[in-house]
Amino acid sequence: MTTVLKLGGSVVTEKDEPESVDEAALARTADAVVDADVGDLVVVHGGGSFGHHHAATHGVSTTDGTHDATAIADIHGAMKRLNRRVVDALLARDVPVVPVHPLSLCARDEEGALSLPHTSVETLLHEGFIPVLHGDLVAHAGAGTTVVSGDELVTALASGLNADRVGMCSTVPGVLDSDGSVVPQIEAFDDIADALGGSDSTDVTGGMAAKVRALLALGAPAFVFGPAELDAFLAGADAGTRIEGDRS
Ligand code: IPE
Repeated sequence: MTTVLKLGGSVVTEKDEPESVDEAALARTADAVVDADVGDLVVVHGGGSFGHHHAATHGVSTTDGTHDATAIADIHGAMKRLNRRVVDALLARDVPVVPVHPLSLCARDEEGALSLPHTSVETLLHEGFIPVLHGDLVAHAGAGTTVVSGDELVTALASGLNADRVGMCSTVPGVLDSDGSVVPQIEAFDDIADALGGSDSTDVTGGMAAKVRALLALGAPAFVFGPAELDAFLAGADAGTRIEGDRS
């Protein structure tokens, strides 16, 4: 049984201050991972006030790339510093985590399609480790390097590893309907299109519509939930909104 868990950057960092970790939230998150009972676990964390701050300063996004080696060192360096903080919090609790940096692993082709060879992560899992990846920059044919979000990594890993469950922990408690209530289950995009602003949404950079579409296309149930339900998810229970495309 393989589980891929995304920790949104806003869950473990202070949003408004550059490169600032929310220590209490990181400690609670790490405590939840210690108690995880979900078999093989891969963790992917976002950028929060580390990656986004530097990416914005240098004008780099998932589509606007850079060839500036100093900008790359700034953005990737910040993400490695956050990754180190997450890894250290888990190591301090005797969780056998190993950092994996997507810049050294992945690439995009000219169309922006991501390739993520998964043998490294798979081998680490077989060896009993918990790989910890992060949103990062990746080599991008024709664009230098561009941002890869944690969400995109989760989707690619879940497919490559044939994951059984996917968890997306962010600061929202689930996918919300137009009244602001958590939708318990989504089986097709039409179920939620109205609340998410219609099926023509141009959101391609990680908003909820894009997230739901990507998760519906996985062959595994995915859950979108807030930090309060991380323990439940890591105990194997459903949490927040369950998203699973109807494969019949
Ligand atoms: C962003 O990753 C990574 C960089 C900006 C380099 P995410 O897009 O996954 O981060 P969060 O979860 O939104 O903070």
